[in-house]
Amino acid sequence: MARGVVECRPWVGRMKLDPLERWFVNSPMRQAMLALVLRWFRAVLPLNPGADILEIGCGAGAGARMLAEQFKPRRLFLTDIDFRMVSLTQKRFSQGSPSPARLCVGDAARLPFRSETAHAVFGFGFLHHVPAWRDGLAEIHRVLKPDGLYYFEEYYPSLYQNFITRRLATHPKHDRFNGCELRKEFAKVKLDLRCTLELKRFGVLGVGVKMGRKHRSSDGGACLL
Ligand SMILES: C[S@@+](CC[C@H](N)C(=O)[O-])C[C@H]1O[C@@H](n2cnc3c(N)ncnc32)[C@H](O)[C@@H]1O
Repeated sequence: MARGVVECRPWVGRMKLDPLERWFVNSPMRQAMLALVLRWFRAVLPLNPGADILEIGCGAGAGARMLAEQFKPRRLFLTDIDFRMVSLTQKRFSQGSPSPARLCVGDAARLPFRSETAHAVFGFGFLHHVPAWRDGLAEIHRVLKPDGLYYFEEYYPSLYQNFITRRLATHPKHDRFNGCELRKEFAKVKLDLRCTLELKRFGVLGVGVKMGRKHRSSDGGACLL
């Protein structure tokens, strides 16, 4: 195992990205997309420096590196179910980073973190890979501190399971989400959807808030979903 990577659950690490998607998440195109996504996140709900941040499904670490540079977190936790991805992220961080990261192999549906650990959770295109995505959302709520923020970028089945894409990349097939299912599940796990930017039949960017003293439940008026 690579130095600095903790295998939190020995039984995970079996689900791998297809070669095509693995190539894509390592590509400059994905890097440019992530930069735009982060710019939107920062514009709609900024996060103070010094926060404890968790990124789930960190992939090869391109987003994680930007989080370290742009948000200057106190602690940065990174996790992915695929050990190879965690190793790539670790390599990226070992080449010099503004803040150290703690890496771990883990499943979003059973996060290996204590409750109320993070001021913010980031998920760049990972939740639609999780068969038990509803458990994943409940876990995100659990590990967030009160008033904590969940920044997410997600895709819909019409993009990743259409006639062409279903031959190119493998994704879970059952119990998938569009905006409607996502909104209902956010409400169920008590994450308040604050800002969303949705491209119908494509995907969505958004920020959910765990209710606390600072953030009271919104009436949904700010949600575009
Ligand atoms: C499309 S890639 C995105 C990678 C990276 N976040 C990015 O934006 O480039 C999805 C990532 O989610 C990870 N993943 C899939 N299922 C997961 C699970 N149950 N728990 C944690 N990570 C998971 C995959 O291994 C993969 O690295």
